[in-house]
Amino acid sequence: MPTIVTLPGDGIGPEVLAAARRILDAVAPDLDYTEHLVGGASIDAHGTALTDETLDACRAADGVLLAAVGGPKWDTTDPDKPRPEQGLLGLRKGLGLFANLRPVRPLPALYDASPLRREIIENTDLLVVRELTGGIYFGEKTRTATTATDLCSYSVEEVERIARVAFRAARSRVTSVDKANVLETSRLWREVVHRVHGEEFPNVLLEDVLVDNAAMQLVAAPRHFDVILTENMFGDILSDEAAMITGSIGMLPSASLGAEGDPGLFEPVHGSAPDIAGQGVANPLAMILSAALLLRHGLGREKEAAAVESAVDAALDGGLRTRDLGGEATTDEATQAVLAHLERT
Ligand code: NAD
Ligand code: IPM
Ligand code: MN
Repeated sequence: MPTIVTLPGDGIGPEVLAAARRILDAVAPDLDYTEHLVGGASIDAHGTALTDETLDACRAADGVLLAAVGGPKWDTTDPDKPRPEQGLLGLRKGLGLFANLRPVRPLPALYDASPLRREIIENTDLLVVRELTGGIYFGEKTRTATTATDLCSYSVEEVERIARVAFRAARSRVTSVDKANVLETSRLWREVVHRVHGEEFPNVLLEDVLVDNAAMQLVAAPRHFDVILTENMFGDILSDEAAMITGSIGMLPSASLGAEGDPGLFEPVHGSAPDIAGQGVANPLAMILSAALLLRHGLGREKEAAAVESAVDAALDGGLRTRDLGGEATTDEATQAVLAHLERT
């Protein structure tokens, strides 16, 4: 029986994770779950955002489902205090999850829920491939009374392995996004991406786009993109921007993958949404779609993954709209709507 670790975390995390569990129970009743604390909840209970016990449980699992961490209760600028986000970063590093896949595919039913015009976003189908365990997120940090630094560093090997993920995922084109006109790490990035392309994937189109231009093109002509390959921080920022093509950050799932055979971590792109936590109004679809990615990438259950995605599409086609999409459906009503469509298929 496959074992899944669930990490509800903070804010709306427990609300949306419970929704995803109801969907998983319907399509994959044989899964075995253990739940652990992470983020602020873990700081409150154990004084640290990620315990060894939680990390070990994740390592031993077949997949990890995480909702979100963080919130004003634990916000601090004191470098010596624990932060919820350390839990998430510790999991990514500890599980070796270097490849973060963030698919962006607006559904026709939601074309008018996006602040972008329908004719701009129609037929967009792109994938952000974000490097997840390197770059400025994980370099040395220093702080004195008057200065602070964050080191941004990338090795050839780190760029090679994420580039391969992007080229393999591409149908036609990889857009490598960097800041090679300024940053040394980006110049290394560009060299390595081009070498991997020439040696291993010459049939895929490759283009380089500077990150500022990419941010603009993403809302001006999102249909142009197939796979966007980029480093850790650029990928973080561009994926929140890309979320609005789908109508809401509450729609975007993600898969974080490491070495072949190791457990992946599946989580929505959004955070703990402290402004709406506890109200039962969070959009659970990004979390539910992340559970679909767990079924597909983590457990090799393509049929069930596709069934969940179709049920989400059908529910939206049927008019389901949570508050973030301009409607009034609650988390529970949204979950019921997806369940109802699952039962029909
Ligand atoms: P956020 O994504 O939590 O919220 C941004 C805005 O989007 C808010 O208005 C929120 O209400 C809305 N929103 C987000 N998810 C939604 C959903 N499912 N349904 C409806 N509306 C939704 O980003 P933030 O406010 O910048 O961050 C809040 C906390 O979350 C911070 O502590 C941050 O570090 C953390 N965070 C965690 C993760 C994660 O755990 N993966 C990701 C991003 C941010
Ligand atoms: C994300 C989040 C995280 C990140 C934070 C919470 C550390 O914003 O998963 O996109 O920056 O990677
Ligand atoms: Mn982010």
